Amino acid sequence: MKIIAVYSSKGGVGKTASAVNLAYTAARTGKQVLLCDMDSQGAASFYYRIKPKKKFNRSCLLSGDFYQFIRGTDYDGLDLLPAHFSFRNLDIALKEAQKEKSRKLLADLLLPLKSEYDFIVLDCPPNLTVLSENIILAADSIVTPVVPTTLSLLALEQLLKLLKKLDCRKEKILAFFSMVERRKALHLAVMEKYGKYRIFMKSSIPYTAEIEKMGLHRRPVGSGGNQSPAAHAYDLLWQEIGQRMSEK
Ligand SMILES: Nc1ncnc2c1ncn2[C@@H]1O[C@H](COP(=O)(O)OP(=O)(O)O)[C@@H](O)[C@H]1O
Ligand SMILES: [Mg+2]
Repeated sequence: MKIIAVYSSKGGVGKTASAVNLAYTAARTGKQVLLCDMDSQGAASFYYRIKPKKKFNRSCLLSGDFYQFIRGTDYDGLDLLPAHFSFRNLDIALKEAQKEKSRKLLADLLLPLKSEYDFIVLDCPPNLTVLSENIILAADSIVTPVVPTTLSLLALEQLLKLLKKLDCRKEKILAFFSMVERRKALHLAVMEKYGKYRIFMKSSIPYTAEIEKMGLHRRPVGSGGNQSPAAHAYDLLWQEIGQRMSEK
């Protein structure tokens, strides 16, 4: 089992869109996949039309009593752990739990699922907190969307700093350019300048109405039957993630 965190400290960069579509792509290629919605806003759960059961909350997650709340999606091989509103305070709870346990709490919680899934994809909230530290330590790879703008690059720098602080290899980070608009000179310039660095994968995700409309259709882009350009872009990104992970 490999854990892939889709993470950036910046909001609105395409984390959820990527987590939802990459998890779907992985399942479509025959893998057993669990998508964990770690963001209390519950966007990934919304896209998959799944609401948490009434008894589910943050305490179930932190006590390890959450396996029963994992739900099947409409797609073969893809399960989802929905977010709960109480996840907004996951940081505070993790900090308290850490008095006795380590920053590896999330990793420990996911470990019993090892035999069930090939991949666990984490859709992460935009934080730089104890939860982020747990996510970074639990993940085999950190897939980081970077909109080709200066501020998005700052988030990548912050992530590198955090990895250093946690004594993790920077090769864990698999960055890609997200929401790319090729008609924008700034996007092209940033990609030209930074895309050559090894931290960036070659694949990128364009800014498209199809991805934007996922909120209306509430399903991954590749699930409509015909292979769209957006679905193709996620396929290529998933392939490259697989290649990079096998190189490590
Ligand atoms: N490649 C894209 N093209 C067009 N719209 C996108 C794309 N990726 C994300 N969006 C839209 O941008 C908004 C933020 O994306 P989201 O994935 O929720 O970001 P995050 O999870 O990083 O906050 C959403 O409305 C989403 O539909
Ligand atoms: Mg999100």
